[in-house]
Amino acid sequence: MAPPNSALMSDLVSGATHVPSQFVRPEHDRPNLDQVIQSPDMSIPLIDLQDFDGSRRSEIIKQIGLACQDYGFFQVKNHGIDEAVIDNLLAVAKEFFHLPESERMKVYSEDPYKTIRLSTSFNVRVEEVSCWRDYLRLHCHPLEDYIHEWPANPPSFREDVAKYCKKVRGLAVRLLQGISESLGLERDYINKALAKHGQHMAINYYPPCPQPELTYGLPGHTDPNVVTLLLQDDVGGLQVLKGGKWVAVKPIPHTFIFNLGDQMQVLSNDRYKSILHRAVVNSDKERISIPTFYCPSYDAVIKPAPKLVDDDHPALYRSFTYGEFYGNFWDKGIDKKSGTSLGMFKTN
Ligand code: OGA
Ligand code: NI
Repeated sequence: MAPPNSALMSDLVSGATHVPSQFVRPEHDRPNLDQVIQSPDMSIPLIDLQDFDGSRRSEIIKQIGLACQDYGFFQVKNHGIDEAVIDNLLAVAKEFFHLPESERMKVYSEDPYKTIRLSTSFNVRVEEVSCWRDYLRLHCHPLEDYIHEWPANPPSFREDVAKYCKKVRGLAVRLLQGISESLGLERDYINKALAKHGQHMAINYYPPCPQPELTYGLPGHTDPNVVTLLLQDDVGGLQVLKGGKWVAVKPIPHTFIFNLGDQMQVLSNDRYKSILHRAVVNSDKERISIPTFYCPSYDAVIKPAPKLVDDDHPALYRSFTYGEFYGNFWDKGIDKKSGTSLGMFKTN
């Protein structure tokens, strides 16, 4: 075992046969893994994006609208991103987390405002129980502002991650156009509302856990941004809350999981909701998941779309800058069991 003062949990717990006390959740807040719905029929919809920019556009927009309304989550296939780009990203991500601790620690930081940092759990400055996770967080747009800060080891890291980031940004912009249309808004309404746009990536690393029933990779939370495009490896661990029950999302290789974040709930004036989800760990295998958090720039002013506000549907949120929201999100910690961080922005 590594010395007990290791900052990163994967080094701290390597070879452990029990979950150390700082990761053990109180009894009322455990994953209850035997109650999770595993049936793929009950899982989130899978949408085929073939001909999205052509003959199938209106059909696909209908599917997107229903998925956003009923689940807040869906998967996409035939999204146009090469399998090799995805495979290279997953491989280099794993390689990074297998580097010696001293090499990884070069980018360690507990400051959520750093534009590149390796950290552990969620926000160690504010939380009581730790999450079974290490993560590398990178800002990715505009690429040329950030790429020089990224790890230079593994040697192909910057190239593999940059290729992926550009492709995923294109997909996010297309899907946001589809979501705008599904709400009856102009195609570019949401993309314009994000001002200069922001794109952050996390590479989540969940080591195997000797007692997965006692802890979380990430407890139930909503994402603070507009939409998230999650790539996961073939291990599985993501669960989504649907009708009060946790539903497992079984990995389908080379698909993306797409979910709505808190800013989408505001822009749509609650027509679409930001949905609770969590990551559980397992005793056999390490797991990598790579969410791209697509966001407004910090100076973007977020408010319900005027077209979705009328006498019957008053504005449910005041306007605020994304910068204001985002600081509040990190300060509060991730354990917000009942939902989003939107409380202080509600009009009543
Ligand atoms: C996240 C997240 C889920 C997963 O990083 O916000 O929800 O499966 N991750 O790792
Ligand atoms: Ni999330």
